[in-house]
Amino acid sequence: MSTLLRSHSLPITALSFALFLGSCQSPASESAPAAAADSWAQADTSLRPELFVDPHSYATPETKVSHLQWDAEVDFDREIIRAIAQWSVPAGGDTLVLDTKALNIQEVLVDGERVAWSLGEEDDLLGAPLYVPLLPGHEHLVTVQYETTEGAQALQWFPAELTQGKRFPFLFTQSQAILARTWIPCQDSPGVRFSYTARVQVPKECLALMSARNPTRKSDNGVYTFEMPEKIPSYLMALGVGDLAFVSLGERSGVYAEPEMVNNAGFEFSLTERMIEQAENLYGPYRWGRYDLLVLPPSFPFGGMENPRLTFVTPTVIVGDQSLTSLIAHELAHIWSGNLVTNHTWNDFWLNEGFTVYFEMRIMEAVYGKDFSDMLKALSYDDLSVEMAELLEKHPESTRLKLDAKGQNPDDAVNAIAYDKGFHFLWLCEQTVGRKRWDAFLKDYFEKNAFGTMVTEGFLRELAQLLSPEEWERIGVQQWVYGQGLPLNCPVAISNRFSLVDDAIAQLRAADPALAGQSYAERSVAYLPQDITKKWFPQEWLRYIRGVAASQPEEGHYALMDEAYGFTTSNNPEVIAAWYTAILSTSYEGYNPQAYKEKVESFLSSVGRRKFIVPMYKAMLQGDEKRRAWAREIYSNARAAYHPLAQETLDQLFAEAE
Ligand code: BES
Ligand code: ZN
Repeated sequence: MSTLLRSHSLPITALSFALFLGSCQSPASESAPAAAADSWAQADTSLRPELFVDPHSYATPETKVSHLQWDAEVDFDREIIRAIAQWSVPAGGDTLVLDTKALNIQEVLVDGERVAWSLGEEDDLLGAPLYVPLLPGHEHLVTVQYETTEGAQALQWFPAELTQGKRFPFLFTQSQAILARTWIPCQDSPGVRFSYTARVQVPKECLALMSARNPTRKSDNGVYTFEMPEKIPSYLMALGVGDLAFVSLGERSGVYAEPEMVNNAGFEFSLTERMIEQAENLYGPYRWGRYDLLVLPPSFPFGGMENPRLTFVTPTVIVGDQSLTSLIAHELAHIWSGNLVTNHTWNDFWLNEGFTVYFEMRIMEAVYGKDFSDMLKALSYDDLSVEMAELLEKHPESTRLKLDAKGQNPDDAVNAIAYDKGFHFLWLCEQTVGRKRWDAFLKDYFEKNAFGTMVTEGFLRELAQLLSPEEWERIGVQQWVYGQGLPLNCPVAISNRFSLVDDAIAQLRAADPALAGQSYAERSVAYLPQDITKKWFPQEWLRYIRGVAASQPEEGHYALMDEAYGFTTSNNPEVIAAWYTAILSTSYEGYNPQAYKEKVESFLSSVGRRKFIVPMYKAMLQGDEKRRAWAREIYSNARAAYHPLAQETLDQLFAEAE
């Protein structure tokens, strides 16, 4: 499919969904007539192009950029980037509109000449449009000279003392969803793709890396050049600068990290090459040359970010046993679902994340086996159930796969709907048609739409060609995509490994909490034998901890299980975060609260991954006044070290809790 559905000449794939869209906002219970699948392929009457317009960008479809030459200097003293962005603009309309946010624009030239550019009104969420006058129908070179400011939410700066090595500073960017505009004036819409080249000057002790062809060694003068020949959307623009070392993982993959960490990272991610092979077996060739990883400081607010050629990852998955590498499978999967075929707007975010979780499960099954991927699927269902219940109460409209996020921060859509409801829908499709047909379909889908964008309706158009009308109905495609809540035919993973965990939960519940402190023989009734649990993966411990907590046990059970399994002293951040989240909702019977607070504080001031820290703060804020005071105190000390995105999320959480 051709890209940019919001251009005025909508391609046929979008047109054909008009009728479908006309009825799309119907409640979950209504479903289309059985014959409808065919008519969707023909209808073109009630076109609603507004559904393809990106509500999060000021860019206009008439005038689109095609290439960026970026010249930048990274100034760690002032914590700003000074840069010149030179945009190639093919012939189009009379104005180029770029998104900017908190940028200090100094000069704009068109084909080397000064022009009367202007900035529109600043919006809190979207920033300000930069208007550049052009000659319609002519191609141009638009040059913007600018500096970033303190308000650049995409940037996190680390003075040397806050890095692992403590000798050199560090910087990384996080552009998704709409933050590229805080460090590059750009058409910040996933529906606009461009190639880029860059020249970046950094302190000469540092290595610079981008989402592009990368060096593996430091240069003598701190100058680096980059090239990304494939066209990518702005949210995949990325830069990392620091005292970085490289180890190779295989022929086309490797990992960059601070030197203190790089060997551990190399071991942790040593299955990467196999994952790439399995991914290619499933959905076609890897088309981006190398696949490298960059390990970021622990304040990175995400688990990973699929920047092309250079996935960014949290160090919290480096635990020594390769048990948390589904993160790599996930980011790798994005190279197809996201980077190759990109959600056209953030309203179609589920196309990126739902597909990616589905693909992640397939890679994990191929590399780690079905027992392992079954656990991941079951955890996905657990997450989905919990979050679905919450969202149905607070924002039921946000439980649809296709969103209408106009006026909202697309960051708020990073939830179990896009990821886990999206995954379960695609898994149901797989189950309905069988893997053979489904895999052939997906492979073809990625091939046909490579380096393009996709709206939900475009995907459904293709799906309608795969499914018979009867299959379409049986799945209830329309209800899944446009309906609220979770349809009743949602598949549920059956995990052999988890059935043992669930037994263990039942046993603990049956145990007498008064047994805490007695000999193992006396209290062993409460536990599965250690020769079983010592082979448990962190995923099993997560299921266990969450399962116990959800069953609201007597408080003494917490001390009992901690004593047997040592959660408080675990060094797996997934396990620790789940455990602290659980125990922060209790009144610490059997614990010394002060000692506990110190542990919690030390975790919260050393890790900034939102998935871990948000639930912990939430648990405290839902507690009594004493716990709420803890939360406030810990946050006021830890906040400065968090990423701007994590700060934003937590500021909001605290404001709501007041
Ligand atoms: N692309 C996302 C991260 C993201 C989404 C950043 C939206 C900003 C806006 C990334 O691929 C992701 O999903 N990360 C997850 C990984 C997990 C699901 C394995 C994360 O960070 O938790
Ligand atoms: Zn993702």
